[in-house]
Amino acid sequence: MLIIELQRDLCQRNYSSLYYFCRMATAENSILGLILPTDPRWTDLAAVSLEEILTDHAFCEQKAATQCISLIQGYPEKEDVVNALAPIVTEEWGHFRMVWSEMKKRGFKLGKQRKDDYVNLLIQKVPKNLTRDEKLLHKLMIGAMIEARSCERFRLLSENLAEKGLRDFYFKFMVSEAGHYRLFMDLAMKHFPEKLVRSTWEQWLKNEEEILHQLVVRGDRMH
Ligand SMILES: [Fe+2]
Ligand SMILES: [Fe+2]
Repeated sequence: MLIIELQRDLCQRNYSSLYYFCRMATAENSILGLILPTDPRWTDLAAVSLEEILTDHAFCEQKAATQCISLIQGYPEKEDVVNALAPIVTEEWGHFRMVWSEMKKRGFKLGKQRKDDYVNLLIQKVPKNLTRDEKLLHKLMIGAMIEARSCERFRLLSENLAEKGLRDFYFKFMVSEAGHYRLFMDLAMKHFPEKLVRSTWEQWLKNEEEILHQLVVRGDRMH
């Protein structure tokens, strides 16, 4: 279970702010864990397509910010959702700026935004005819899913890239996205019965596994 391993790693590095996250991870083994590990070829492909992967990463961060804005716009009456996500918008935009700054330092250009097959396929898996509240649950689950997978990929980059500066750069993202994963799960647990969240999450883990089997491994995509 990759996420569990990730949480153990984070614990070992004694990041006190992640203590809660790590502790909960141990308690919630049954609802956590990406089913399929990333294909080992991905890290090598990403390492040789740095400008491409940073461009895609930059747009992923923008999309993470806009997704949080869209949740706030869609559920303004849920004050705790607004309170939780408002700072994440700022953080994700900050991530975009960090990636862009790293690109400029290297003389890279911000390429065009690419079609996000991973996210589009996830969206296609959302069941039809949902109530407004049910839609919120699935949006939170998709948010948690993308954060969890991003986290796993950032870990691979933070451990395997040749340049120490880039490994440290990606370690920061891994820690941050782990926290976002936890936040989406916590919001879901707060607004929906635990049993429903667990069963819905299990289904999303299976959905994501199917999607990864469908996608071609390429080094110019974060997902
Ligand atoms: Fe981010
Ligand atoms: Fe995030």
